[in-house]
This record gives sequence, structure tokens and C-alpha cells, in this order.
Amino acid sequence: MCGIVGVVGKPAREVVLNGLKNLEYRGYDSAGIYLNDLQGHEYLTKAVGRIANLEEKLAPEEEGTTGIGHTRWATHGHPTVENAHPQYSEDGRFYLVHNGVIENYLELKEKYLAGAHFKSETDTEVVVQLVAKLAKEENLDAFSAFKQALKLVKGSYAFLLVDNTKPDHIYIAKNKSPMMLGLGDGFNIIASDAISVLDQTKTFIALNDGDCADVTKDSIEIQDCDGNKAEREAKVLDIDPNAASKGTYEFYMLKEIDEQPAVMRRLSTDYLDEAGKPVVDEKIIDAVSQADRIYIFAAGTSYHAGLVGKEIFEKFTGIPTEVGYASEAGYHFPMMSKHPFFIFLTQSGETADSRVVLTEANKRGIPSLTMTNVEGSTLSREATYTMLLNAGPEIAVASTKAYTAQVALQAILAKAVGEKLGDQAAKDWNLKQGLSLAAEGIQEIVDGKEKIEELAKKYLIPSRNAFYIGRGIDHAVSLESALKLKEVSYIQTEGFAAAELKHGTISLIEDGTPVIALINDPVTADLTRGNIQEVASRGANVITIVGKQFAKEGDNIVLPEIDYYLSALLSVVPTQLLAYFASKNKGLDVDKPRNLAKSVTVE
Ligand code: F6R
Repeated sequence: MCGIVGVVGKPAREVVLNGLKNLEYRGYDSAGIYLNDLQGHEYLTKAVGRIANLEEKLAPEEEGTTGIGHTRWATHGHPTVENAHPQYSEDGRFYLVHNGVIENYLELKEKYLAGAHFKSETDTEVVVQLVAKLAKEENLDAFSAFKQALKLVKGSYAFLLVDNTKPDHIYIAKNKSPMMLGLGDGFNIIASDAISVLDQTKTFIALNDGDCADVTKDSIEIQDCDGNKAEREAKVLDIDPNAASKGTYEFYMLKEIDEQPAVMRRLSTDYLDEAGKPVVDEKIIDAVSQADRIYIFAAGTSYHAGLVGKEIFEKFTGIPTEVGYASEAGYHFPMMSKHPFFIFLTQSGETADSRVVLTEANKRGIPSLTMTNVEGSTLSREATYTMLLNAGPEIAVASTKAYTAQVALQAILAKAVGEKLGDQAAKDWNLKQGLSLAAEGIQEIVDGKEKIEELAKKYLIPSRNAFYIGRGIDHAVSLESALKLKEVSYIQTEGFAAAELKHGTISLIEDGTPVIALINDPVTADLTRGNIQEVASRGANVITIVGKQFAKEGDNIVLPEIDYYLSALLSVVPTQLLAYFASKNKGLDVDKPRNLAKSVTVE
């Protein structure tokens, strides 16, 4: 979603622009930068569309040793230059960039800013005008006026503020939106995601909600809105900046699909010992073992990983497991069992919808675990426990390797808990071998990608719509596969429980409609074959993705044999590739599908 980069104490233009480019993958529709050279010159430039458009507009002399930049994913108001950030106050003194949503901006506007003139439709402009008003009318310095304004503001925010009467400072504030403070030698840098500025520093302070800070090139003062000072620990982040580069790939999505065998091996090494025993924090195992019900909350692809996890947890721990959309559970909290345990699946660790549920869980004292790919992310810091996916940075908006990592990590936890509870199936489950087979199997599938590209070209690209069908875990995978195809190729696709089609949706099948059938469930394999006949006889072009043990002549994609409970790790991969090739061959921007953002930090 929106991205923020600010720097104080060194030539800022390139640092800010590069940082913003590193955040491009998150999705945005306009960008802007403010630079101040501390010699009385300041520059504000904004552009709609890509950062390249912004760069084109920047004059050579536009440079400064204080700079703040922003990529905006429109919420309040269209993607226009006026609505792009930085927003500035009517008196021209304050410049503000903002990630998040101000819930009471209309109320603030009416109550405090009746006479002010607004140039944009944004909630952000209301805040910068409010700061300016408080500074002027109450004769406050910038930091005091900012903190005063924050007391009135309700919502989520990561703010960077510059006062052009004291431009060697950047004032920052955080609530519910991520914000990292990077420490440099003779400069400091602020970013909504550390990954964007790893070429500048690896030492970061993660700010807490409610923190405000006054940052200069060689000082950082962190306070709350009332001026109480706070100490926050700096940590050196162990992230390889090259892991986030595209290398020789045209698109990140394919690189990340191809990385999945390595991710499976890494999870196996990190979470299973030589003998295949899970290496999981005992406290987590104890906490889950004591639960009478597991609740998994997530959104989008992570939700689909949770649906697979449900099958695995119930099979190997015997603990009933429910999966819910975080966005729904936040405001319609499910009825709880006596001893619930919450698992949050979130690649980014920042999804606002999931965070609402976690906040409520914390209020109610419900123990929780975040499975995330981002160390130090908000949901990881706020949950009782964290398990990292260790999948390496995922840059393509469409999640691939984080999904398979989520499935595998849930399997590891299920085995650990099941063993603790004395479950025989868990004890007998050779997960080490399973993950090794998954790694080899994925490799085999990605090595045969040309065939999958042909299928995408022949059946998917000419079509406006498509269906995935499957039963059991295949149903969960069909939902994920459909999401992947529609989000990157814009082909309207739905995932269905195979037998459900005939209860209504089969009326949409016509000559040439692609129906992709997944068959990996031993119990229902033959039944799904029957469902294939139903659509084929009504004109559908059927593509089958079938485990070797269930394969028949004429099947299109035959997957290496694997345990049913790990079958999602293989069956999803051809569907990721189908989505990738459909998008690429339609000439679309595979990594940045329209309207989407990587890290969804608004509700
Ligand atoms: C789709 C996709 C999204 C995310 C969803 C939740 O490819 O990536 O559906 O899964 O926005 O994001 P996280 O996992 O970061 O909580």
C-alpha cells in the first residue's frame, strides 16, 4: 500500500526516490517528494502514476538534505496530483506525508478548520492544516503542535512532517501503520518498510503505536503525545538486500514461484531436526496443546492457506479448527470456546483487518500466534508468539512462496502439537521426508513450465472467465488458484467445491469455458472425475491437475506423488504458473496488478 521514505542529514533526492522505488511493488497510483536544502530552498514535486513520472518532473537543481517522499494508494479522493502527498498547510509552512486513514477527518475539518481552504480531497491535508493552525494560534513549536494535533486525530497513521522554519528536523508519528527508523552515520532515515532502505542502513528502531519522534541528522527523541520520553531498542536486521532483487527474471512472481523448493528445504532445516522432530518453541506447543479450539484468521491468500491448515490441524492434533476472514471476525467476533487459541496467518504481518482481530484477542486475553514472513512486523510484535515463514522477501503482489510456506509451517506446528498430545498419526508422520518430496516435486513442476505456458495460452488467454474445482484440500487450493488467476490476469475466475457447480453455477458453463480440476483427495478422486464429465459434456475445456496415484490417460498435469495433507504444496504450483503465464502473455504487469497493494494496511 502507500509507502514512505524520509531522510535527514544527507543528499536526500536519490535516497528517497530509490527507497520509494523499492516500495513500488506494494502498489500505488501517485507519488511525491519534498526537499529542503536548509539554505532557504525548498521543492515540492508530485506526479500521477509511476515514480518514473515523478523523476521526469524533477528539475536538476531539486535537491536537499532533508527530504520526505510518498507513494499513494488512493483512499480519500482520486489519484491526482492535488491528492498526492506531501500535503502542505495553507500558510506553506508544514509538509506532511501519511500512510493510513484518518477516521475523524471530516469532524476535525468542521470543528477546527472552518475557514481553511483545501486543495485536495484527502484526510491528510486536514491534519497538516490542523498542525499549522495549532502552531499559529497557540504559538507552539512544530513538535508541540504536531503532538497536540495527534491528540485530536483518530485513525491509523505513519506521518512524516517537515516545518520549513526548522527544516533540519523531521517529526514522525505512528499508530497502527508500520514505521521504521533507520540509524545512519551522520544521517537518519525513516521508512514504512526497512527493506526499502537497506542500502543505507541495517540498524533500525521499530516504533510502537503512540510514538512520536523528533529526528535530526544526529539525534532522535521519542515521546508519546503527552511528551513522556520513551526508549526504543535499535536492532540490526538480518535481511540480505540481494534477496529482494529480481536477478535475471523478468518478473518477481516467477522468481518467487521458482524459489519454493528452497523455501521448503529451509523450513525443514529451520523447524525439523535431523530425526524429523519439530523444533518449535515449547511455549507455543504447550499453548496450542491446551486449546480446545484453534481459530485461524487471515485475509486473501493467507486465508486460503488457513483453509488447508484447518484440515491438517484437525487431522494431526484432533483439535477442532475454524478459519475466518479477519475482516469479518473483527466486527462480528465469533462465539468462543472455553480455551481458544488464535493463529494469524499474514505474509506481511501488517494487514489491518487481521490486526483488528488481534487487538480484540489481546483485550480478551486470548493467546495468539502470528505466522509471518516479516520479522518485527506489527502482528508479530503484538501476538503472544511468532513463527517466521523464512521465505525471503516476497515482492510480487500476488503471493506464492509465502502461501506454500504458510501451509508447510502449519504442518510443522500441527505435528509438534499432535506429538505432544500423543496423537499417533502425528508421531508417524514423516514430515521431513514429506517436505523433501515437496521440494523435489515443486522443482519437477517448475522445470516443466513450458507445458503450463502452452495450456495458459491455449485455454485461458482467449477466455473471459474460468473455474477451478476440487474437493477437500483441493477445494481450498481451488479457491487460492482462482484468486491467483483473477488477480494477475483479470480473467474472472471462481473456485468451487467440485460438487457444488451442479447446484447452480453450472449454468455459466458454455463452449470453451476453462474448468481446471484438481484431483489429489483419495476419498473423492472418482467423484471429482464425475464432476468433470458434467462440465465437459456441456462444452467446458477441462484441464486436469492430478496426483500421480490418481492419474488417468489424457490428464494434463500429473503431479509427483505426495501425502494428501501436503498435496497443496504441489497442486498449487501449476496454478501459480497458469496465472503467471496468462498475465505475462496478455502483456500485463504481472508483479503489480491494477488496483492491488502488497501490504493492505487499511480496513
Ligand atoms: C493475494 C495476496 C493477498 C494477501 C492478503 C493478506 O495474492 O497476496 O490476498 O494474502 O492481502 O495479506 P497478508 O498475508 O500480508 O496478511
